[in-house]
Amino acid sequence: MLRLGVNIDHVATLRQARGGREPDPVWAAVLAELGGADVITIHLREDRRHIQDRDVRVLKETCRVRLNLEIALDPGVLAIATEIRPGQATFVPERRQERTTEGGLDAVADLARLADAVGRCKDAGIEVALFLDADLAQVDAAVRLGVHAVEFHTGRYADAATPQEMEAELEALRRAARATVDAGLELHAGHGLNYQNVAPIAGIESMRELNIGHAIVSRAVSIGMTQAVREMKQAMELALR
Ligand code: PXP
Repeated sequence: MLRLGVNIDHVATLRQARGGREPDPVWAAVLAELGGADVITIHLREDRRHIQDRDVRVLKETCRVRLNLEIALDPGVLAIATEIRPGQATFVPERRQERTTEGGLDAVADLARLADAVGRCKDAGIEVALFLDADLAQVDAAVRLGVHAVEFHTGRYADAATPQEMEAELEALRRAARATVDAGLELHAGHGLNYQNVAPIAGIESMRELNIGHAIVSRAVSIGMTQAVREMKQAMELALR
């Protein structure tokens, strides 16, 4: 089975733009589940730019499907993860200056720190995934760390400027995916996937989970706009009666 993890960070981004209470990512999670989401994915960033600690706590209580918490190697965030115990933690790199997660982890360079963090999550009963570029040395490090899954960063595939470049990125992803599955790890992918480019990634053999955020939240805003405007007109017209 191929699961869809719906990343609702951008709903929280919209809430934080006004510093108020809506739109609440908890509502978004319920609606995503009604649409068939198999996983709810959130990233608790060290700078708390979108998802807040409260969101993680409430979602842990309210999500009926698996909660996938993306975290960096940050002691404070790791402590929250091991306390709240989502079903899955995905380790991602994090830089304050970036708009979004721009590349995979360097699990080779960070092996010792990751071993400690992965061990803590596993002790807390959390399944662990690593967000990696399609690189065999990185897959090898993931195998050594004994994680449950690897999520491959599909950003370079999504941003490819030509069909040839896209095919080359796809081939690199397929090769790394084969090595991952051969080593007995579960295969995930995500970043930059949209309605047009998802099919070849979904079709990679043994793919088990895709995490998709921006395209789904963008589409939700687009298809909900007409209804939202209609409701505001009705609210205004009521005042004129
Ligand atoms: N997977 C991971 C590990 C991510 O960090 C992100 C972005 O937050 C996504 C998937 C989703 O990316 P997008 O919003 O481009 O679909």
